[in-house]
Amino acid sequence: MTHRLEPTVSALVPDWSRESKRCFEWHPSRSLLASIRSYQRHRANGYPHSGLLRRLAVLRHRFWSAVTGADIPINCRIGGGLLLPHPNGVVIHPDAVIGPNCLLFQQTTLGGGPGGAPTLGGHVDVGAGAKILGAVRLGAHSKVGANAVVLQDVPEGATCVGIPGRIIG
Ligand SMILES: CC(C)(COP(=O)(O)OP(=O)(O)OC[C@H]1O[C@@H](n2cnc3c(N)ncnc32)[C@H](O)[C@@H]1OP(=O)(O)O)[C@@H](O)C(=O)NCCC(=O)NCCS
Repeated sequence: MTHRLEPTVSALVPDWSRESKRCFEWHPSRSLLASIRSYQRHRANGYPHSGLLRRLAVLRHRFWSAVTGADIPINCRIGGGLLLPHPNGVVIHPDAVIGPNCLLFQQTTLGGGPGGAPTLGGHVDVGAGAKILGAVRLGAHSKVGANAVVLQDVPEGATCVGIPGRIIG
């Protein structure tokens, strides 16, 4: 899969350089993530000016959500180092959990279903158009093929493809 830097990518330690961008650099997905990080940071520290900065982050989040066409809730639990190379159509359920250094290609859905929402371990790569539905768990370093519909757990390091998703290795 392109954009992958295995085997050096950690499943535990967030690589924040994957989300960094220069000031005024046009990088909508990283700007969207920055607004989420900013909101959650200012929510956590209760300084007097935090409320204002939180509201500013909400406005930035709305703007970049419109630009990217991604639906990523501002309260989402996302580990550091998330890559969204083409953020359009990425939809994430508010209860989903994403581990560090994951990668979501365009049109990915982490959706609610039986029992809740998905949990992605660290360094999980999800191919374009894949749908991961319900309270499934994807192990660290696992991969999901383009357009797969994942309805069952994926073991650590495994690859899941097809509809419904099946493990190929
Ligand atoms: C799933 C994926 C990571 C597997 O890559 P791989 O480990 O190199 O696997 P291979 O290409 O050797 O394929 C292994 C088998 O899985 C099948 N397969 C691979 N990807 C598949 C997919 N998305 N859907 C269904 N079957 C798939 C292959 O046909 C092959 O089947 P076979 O053994 O019966 O011949 C890759 O195919 C993929 O889907 N990557 C997504 C990339 C993406 O979304 N890029 C977007 C860029 S904008």
